[in-house]
Amino acid sequence: MHKNGAVILAGGQGTRMRSDKPKVLAEVLFKPMIDWVIDAAKAAGVEDICVVTGYGADLLEKYLANRTETVHQSERLGTGHAVMQAKEFIAKHTGGNVLILNGDAPFADAKTISDALAQHTNENCAQTVISACVENPYGYGRIVRNKDGSFMCITEEASASEEVKKINEINSGVMWFDADELLCVLGKLKNDNSKGEYYLTDTVDILLGEGKKVTAFTSENPDAVLGANTRVQLHELNEIARQKSLESFMLSGVDIPFTDGVIITPDCTIGTDTQILPGTILRDGCVVGNDCIIGPSSLITDCKIGNRCTLNRVQAENSTIEDGADLGPFMHVRPNSHIGKNVHCGNFTEVKNSTIGEKTSISHLTYVGDSDVGSGVNFGCGTVTTNYDGLQKHRTTIEDNCFIGCNTNLIAPVTIGKNAYTAAGSTITEDVPPMNLAVARARQINKEGWVEKTGRKK
Ligand code: UD1
Ligand code: CA
Repeated sequence: MHKNGAVILAGGQGTRMRSDKPKVLAEVLFKPMIDWVIDAAKAAGVEDICVVTGYGADLLEKYLANRTETVHQSERLGTGHAVMQAKEFIAKHTGGNVLILNGDAPFADAKTISDALAQHTNENCAQTVISACVENPYGYGRIVRNKDGSFMCITEEASASEEVKKINEINSGVMWFDADELLCVLGKLKNDNSKGEYYLTDTVDILLGEGKKVTAFTSENPDAVLGANTRVQLHELNEIARQKSLESFMLSGVDIPFTDGVIITPDCTIGTDTQILPGTILRDGCVVGNDCIIGPSSLITDCKIGNRCTLNRVQAENSTIEDGADLGPFMHVRPNSHIGKNVHCGNFTEVKNSTIGEKTSISHLTYVGDSDVGSGVNFGCGTVTTNYDGLQKHRTTIEDNCFIGCNTNLIAPVTIGKNAYTAAGSTITEDVPPMNLAVARARQINKEGWVEKTGRKK
């Protein structure tokens, strides 16, 4: 079997987005539209992909970073012309099929693409166009059929008669071609239409005229065609994607009692009976266990969270949080942290690049950075690991069951041995051996009668 390939058209500027970036880099659920399309092609089994770039090609190529092939369309002369730029890529797939996709229609789905391919190959078609029936077909190419229902042609809005404009079955822009037929028909496209563009959609008429078989595969997913020309429409796409994602999490057993401000990217995994409260964003492949309460107002990026955790107004990124951890309100877990089982971190605490052992408690107003903390440690309010000397970062080690008094400064590098205590207000500059109490603060003097002697008495 010959390998199939996909060409993604992404040359457009999207003037009405009012952006300096190519339109396909606009994000839906924090993921550029081009990636939705690439992922759909890959999920449908098409690994070999060529992106046609145009406006902002440098930015797009940089973003794609050789994940796909690219070809550049220097003049924007229509979708047919865009595909022509990928001739060499298409030629590599002769004997197989080539999928064409629009880079700005993020909801083309893998199942529709592979079902359409099955029909395309079973019926030996030269071309199979994925169509959809939509409420408002304005602006789309219409699927025009003969009286017997067979496919006649695609007519673009600009060329459509009043009669044709009423047709609500439209061209999604996604289509399969036999690669040899595509190469051949590209050479026959003309630009003799009102826009002076080479329309890819004219291939239908040409191939049918040559007696080739061309069919339409009607998608059950009308969203497959949706694109965004303005930021308002981009917002609409985001809402659709957000709602769909939340519904799928709810159906899998996640409790989202109110969806207000809740955004969960589809690449996350969440266990049953976990509750997500308003204003919470989970993104970048978070894995969350069962019976957690996440939110309200939490931003969790690329984290692994165990079972029965509570994250109340927490911002956490790129970290692991073990079973039973109780975090917040108002906590920041910065990258590369490992919060152990049943740890408690309370109000205004920040942990960065640190390991916190089981059952350790960091209740209030504390910064723990670049530290290795054992289990059963108690941090008093206002503890600071002073990890940075202005040049370098240093680590702090606090062994199991230590008691760190309120307002302790731990000047790293420093180690507090097992079961040791530090007195409140201490600035610890030297290691504390296990079982010791370290007191590192000026001794208090009370000056008897000082108020009277200095004439301050009222
Ligand atoms: C196209 C189809 C229309 C279909 C619709 C679905 C044609 C002629 N029309 O119309 O039948 O219903 O998509 O959304 O194909 N592009 C380039 N270079 C170009 C022109 C376009 O790369 O010279 C890219 C665009 O960036 C975009 C895609 O091709 O990603 C589609 O182009 P667009 O201008 O949006 O086509 P439509 O007019 O929407
Ligand atoms: Ca379009």
